[in-house]
Amino acid sequence: MAKEKVNLLIENASELVTLRGGTQRPLLGERMRDLGIIKGGSIAVRKGRIVSVGKTREIKRKFESEETIDVNGKVVMPGFVDPHTHLVFSGSREDEFEMRIHGSTYMEILERGGGILRTVNETRKASKEALFESCRKTLDIMLRHGTTTVEAKSGYGLTTKDEIKCLEVMKLLDQEHPIAIVPTFLGAHTIPLEYKGKADEYVDLVINEMIPAVAGSRLAEFCDVFCEKGVFSVEQSRRILLSGRKHGLLPKLHADEMTRLGGAELAAEMRAVSADHLIFASDNGLRAMAKQGTVAVLLPGASFSLMMNHYADAGKIIQLGVPVALGTDYNPNCWVENPQIVIVLACREMRMTSAEAIVATTINAAHAISRAQNVGTLEPGKKADIIVLDASNHKFLGYRFGVNLVDKVIKEGRLVVDEGTVIKEQ
Ligand code: NIG
Ligand code: FE
Repeated sequence: MAKEKVNLLIENASELVTLRGGTQRPLLGERMRDLGIIKGGSIAVRKGRIVSVGKTREIKRKFESEETIDVNGKVVMPGFVDPHTHLVFSGSREDEFEMRIHGSTYMEILERGGGILRTVNETRKASKEALFESCRKTLDIMLRHGTTTVEAKSGYGLTTKDEIKCLEVMKLLDQEHPIAIVPTFLGAHTIPLEYKGKADEYVDLVINEMIPAVAGSRLAEFCDVFCEKGVFSVEQSRRILLSGRKHGLLPKLHADEMTRLGGAELAAEMRAVSADHLIFASDNGLRAMAKQGTVAVLLPGASFSLMMNHYADAGKIIQLGVPVALGTDYNPNCWVENPQIVIVLACREMRMTSAEAIVATTINAAHAISRAQNVGTLEPGKKADIIVLDASNHKFLGYRFGVNLVDKVIKEGRLVVDEGTVIKEQ
């Protein structure tokens, strides 16, 4: 029998982590422990898409290929999907980190004009070209650590012009870089200095000017709000999300990160695609989210970086039937590109198993940004976004820490990282 021709075969995985069955609905509860592993597995890829997965012997019997990668007993799994980053910003805040070591809190620093406000100041001054260059380097780091799809929020411009500038940088990066970028408008990240004491006026600006401009130029898919005591109230957040939805931007929410404000309840009421952080979310809010299918994006890197001693209660959230995803929250206050560290923290500080954390950083994260039809599992029809881990089994994610376990990254069927190094196109 003639063999079917494909462009790429990836052979001899010790474990081929398929995560099958998670595409239509996120994996919930007990299902987060079943990774659909094929021992001794292979994948056939044609035109950037997965054609078939199975035991190496079967795949080799059915397919022949121009190119073959023998992974020789390593783990093969879907590329990481990072569903929450603040990718585009200028500058850094390492001195504020020192202040926090000495006891200042995040909100105190923000109230004094530091924190987000300081990054806004620097980002407004930066040119599009400068932002593009620094973000491209960041994306290379993310790619080396296995991320193949990333959600990126604006939110350090806070004028219509500067928010658009940052969203345009994302669009360019999406075109130029192997990582796929999913853009979110976060004009309601904080109240800029020029609107101090006039929060409702700023909300009006977001609603009347920014959202129509952003949606009109199709620069974002989601609308997010930092709903927090001293930032945007539940009522203000609701107004913004409703307006976003009217213009076709799907709701997301920074919810219950520092205080129990009712963010989880609001996210459910808005039928938000995701509610993120949720450290202080109420049981009722979480139950409402489970009912609506709103994904909980947990960000243990933020708790760690803020030295909070509080992490979202992942066990309870999973048990209540809420879909759980994990993200980095990459931003100048939580400067982490690497989702493997997030898995390490999720296992140790939130008692998630490696399997649960893998589901949360792949297919459930894809659901959190409406990309589950295309990425997040290794199944026929999906994009061939694949990573190879230098480990004998998937439990090394979470267990081993402080090194990059990613050996190879394949993005849409093309080898883009080999032996931990990004391959630049000639
Ligand atoms: O998700 N909490 C609000 N936004 C970010 C922090 C942004 C910043 O401090 O620059 C977060 O933690
Ligand atoms: Fe965030």
